[in-house]
Parts: sequence; C-alpha cells; structure tokens
Amino acid sequence: MGELERSGASGHTEHDYPEHIPVLREPFIDAILSDPDGRYLDCTFGRGGHSRALLARLSPRGRLLALDRDPEAVAAGEKLAQSDPRFTIIHAEFAELGEALAQQGWAQVSGIGFDLGVSSPQVDRAERGFSFSHDGPLDMRMNSEHDMPLAQKLARVSERELVTVLRSFGDERYAQRIARAILKAQREDRLHSTADLENICFHAVPKGARHGKTHPATRTFQALRIWVNGEMDQIDAGIHAAIDHLQPGGKLAVISFHSGEDRRVRDLIESHVHPCVCPPQLPVCMCGKQPTMRWLQKKPIRPSAAEVAENPRSRSSLMRVAERLSAAESARLAGYSGGLR
Ligand SMILES: C[S@@+](CC[C@H](N)C(=O)[O-])C[C@H]1O[C@@H](n2cnc3c(N)ncnc32)[C@H](O)[C@@H]1O
Repeated sequence: MGELERSGASGHTEHDYPEHIPVLREPFIDAILSDPDGRYLDCTFGRGGHSRALLARLSPRGRLLALDRDPEAVAAGEKLAQSDPRFTIIHAEFAELGEALAQQGWAQVSGIGFDLGVSSPQVDRAERGFSFSHDGPLDMRMNSEHDMPLAQKLARVSERELVTVLRSFGDERYAQRIARAILKAQREDRLHSTADLENICFHAVPKGARHGKTHPATRTFQALRIWVNGEMDQIDAGIHAAIDHLQPGGKLAVISFHSGEDRRVRDLIESHVHPCVCPPQLPVCMCGKQPTMRWLQKKPIRPSAAEVAENPRSRSSLMRVAERLSAAESARLAGYSGGLR
C-alpha cells in the first residue's frame, strides 16, 4: 500500500469507503460558471466532485480556490492541487472566507458555490461519529483540530438548551422526551457511542413513532451535528462574506439538505435582494438600503428522478441561485432615480 493510500490511525484506506458523489453536479456548475477565464471559489471541497467538474470547464487561464474545514478533505484537495496548477485549497471555515480570498490576493470572484452538510466519507467513517448506521464515538466534528466533540458538549448542556437544539436544528417533535432520555443515560453512564445514542432516541419516542419512514434518531443526529459544528452561524457568516466578494454579475449557488438549512439560506439571500426595512405604508424608501443581489433561482432546483435513483443521498437536496448586481442596477432597483419604492 502506498503512503498516500493510508488514511490514519483507523487503518482504513480511501478505497474502503465510497467516494462522495457530487449532488446536482451539472446544474451547480451551470449556475456559477459565467466566464471560463474567471476566478471561482468552492467553499465546500469535500472530495472535490464539484471542483473537478468546474475545472473541466475552465480555460487554462481560469482559477479555482477551494475551502474546507475538515483536514481530511484538505489533504484530498492538496493531491488535486499537485496535478492542476489552476487549483488551490485552503484549510478554512466559511467564516474565514474573506481572509482566504485575501491570502490568494483576490478581492472579487466570478462565482461562489456552497454544497452544505457532510460528505459521504465523513458519514461513512464510523470513527468520525456522525452516523447511527456505523457505531462510533460521540464526536461529529468536521474540524477535529478545533471544535469540541459531541460527548464533551453533552456533558455541559442543560436539558432546556438541548431541547432547543433538537427543536431548532432538527424540527424534532419529541425534543423534550429525547433530551431528557439522553441526559438521563449520560448520568447513568449508559451513553458512550453513536449506537447508544440511536438506541436512546428509539426508545424515547412513543411506540407508534418508532417504525415510520425515517428512523427516530435521524433528526436528533442532524440537530446535534449542526450544534457541534456551529453550522448555522457558519452559513450566516459565509453567505454574507460570499456576497461581499462577488463581482457584478457574479453568481452564488447554494445546495442545502434540509428545510431549516434552506430557510436560512433563502432568508439570508433575500435580505440582500430586498434589504429595505421601511414600513410598507411609506411611499418612498427612507432607510436607503439598496439591493445587492437578484434571484436567478428563487424556486429551488431539485435533483431529477434519475439522479435520486443513482444517488439516494441527493434526495433531499435543493439549490438556490442568485446574482450580484452592479452599483447602477442596485440604485435602479432601489428606486433611487425615481425615489419610489
Ligand atoms: C457535502 S460535502 C461537499 C462535497 C463536495 N461538493 C464534493 O463534490 O465532493 C460538504 C463539505 O463541506 C465542508 N464544510 C461544511 N461546513 C463547512 C464550513 N463551515 N467551512 C468549511 N467547510 C465546511 C465539510 O467538511 C464537507 O467536506
């Protein structure tokens, strides 16, 4: 086995796990690509499915910078960077997007893409602790160098806070019962692994809700992952920073995987499309906030039936697309020339 094929202490190789299959690959590239000579930013490298598809459509003058907060994804990206001089990867979070672009010497880019959530290698490696199908430690960190693993966070959380986490990030109907059961198991030293957590969720929900379409632990695992990784704050910081660094006519495409994430993305972009905060009864805008974006795809794009059949993990994906306005368009859409809203 070559050195590059090893994947750390677990002894697993890259080949033990399916590669990540990029979701909505061509629609995503069509959405952000406007100029084959342009500069682009892929904020979620993962295993590079979208990055490779974009590079295949860039000219020799085009450039792509990718980010990922997961050191394993960055290691995979560094291999790609060795074989393609148009490509660079930086270990950074969405919230550090501005610094990453500055490091590259880029003030503005032609297109920016986010493919939110987790990659297949993250979910499928038991030792990362993301999944209840593969028993592993209570971890769930995308960046194991910085953030606090799930076990430590659970040791410090109050029942009230945990209920809020499960409700806000998982829309979990049985949040109260599940939160109470998790903390009770922890006090009784019965919570050590993702299999324990799955079992606790299963028995915490009423009997009639245990065998539905989705496993009773699904929403709890999603909510805890979002909490451990501060994902909503990252999305907020990342989308605002992305919009700040798009050139006029530059495109933003965001793929989400559940309704809470999509609502957040939609509202963030909408706050740049319709930023005016004046009361509706005012005939003229007084707040002076000008739009900076226009929707290209307000109604989300979903995968085709063929894509879902080929890659069931694409099932819940949805993509929104918007474009950065020029200063003149912003002023015109704000009604500044006529003064009317
Ligand atoms: C769905 S995967 C992306 C898959 C990728 N498009 C591909 O085709 O291989 C999401 C990736 O984004 C990374 N990620 C999630 N949140 C992040 C954040 N706030 N900052 C940087 N990377 C993040 C994850 O570590 C993961 O590798």
